Amino acid sequence: MMTNLVLLGPPGSGKGTQGERLEEALELPRLSTGDMLREAVAHGTELGRKVAPIMAAGALVPDAIVVGIIRERTGKSDCAKGFILDGFPRTIPQAEELERMLAGRGTSVTMVMNVEVADEVLVRRCVGRRLCSNKECGAIYHVEAKPPLKEGVCDLCGSPLVHRADDREEAVGERLKAYHAQTQPLEAYYAERGVLRGVDGVGTPDEVFERVEAVVKPLVVGISGA
Ligand code: AP5
Ligand code: MG
Repeated sequence: MMTNLVLLGPPGSGKGTQGERLEEALELPRLSTGDMLREAVAHGTELGRKVAPIMAAGALVPDAIVVGIIRERTGKSDCAKGFILDGFPRTIPQAEELERMLAGRGTSVTMVMNVEVADEVLVRRCVGRRLCSNKECGAIYHVEAKPPLKEGVCDLCGSPLVHRADDREEAVGERLKAYHAQTQPLEAYYAERGVLRGVDGVGTPDEVFERVEAVVKPLVVGISGA
């Protein structure tokens, strides 16, 4: 029995922050299409060169690209018990492809957690975000909400912190537009399938995680009781 969790929510809502904690709590890998695409950009691969300008502008990359990435990644052995998808699916065609892909493997989406935060708060969160440049670490900081002990340096591994190309205010505005137009329809899609659960994403990361834990509790029981 696989546990396949989807983290849905606008840019900056805390999918990564809560997802990092969930990977530990559920002992499942977190697959962030954003992180995978940024890695391709950092390595200057053919894919990276293609998606870099799209991402920097705050638009979505073509469905076929992310579907291909997820098809390959979810087929790896560490996903045998399930996975946590962060930032995928993001359009109805991606959700339909995921449904078909999982059905072909005899499984389905177990739960979709929708992290809810108002647009005004999201801009501030993204503009103030800093990320550890070491991909093995990838820790997430915020200049106000979660500052590192030493400015510009990761508390955990000492690597330099970076600011994402799409965390400029104009790009965040474009990402929010793309979210409302292309991703938000997934709420109705998953509500119809009876798997959507909403979580209020405003509060400290600890407060939000308490709500997240309450929502995933049935999954934890399901996993340990399996
Ligand atoms: P992606 O990397 O997925 O970005 P996103 O969805 O815009 O979400 P973010 O990573 O910005 O936010 P988050 O929800 O993870 O928040 P975080 O925890 O970091 O995608 C980037 C781009 O890749 C897309 O624009 C697109 O081009 C492309 N892409 C990716 N997937 C795709 C797909 N499926 N299809 C097409 N294109 C795709 O938190 C944000 C900040 O807030 C941090 O600084 C954090 O410290 C702080 N924070 C978090 N929680 C709290 C809290 N409770 N209180 C105060 N501060 C908080
Ligand atoms: Mg993220």
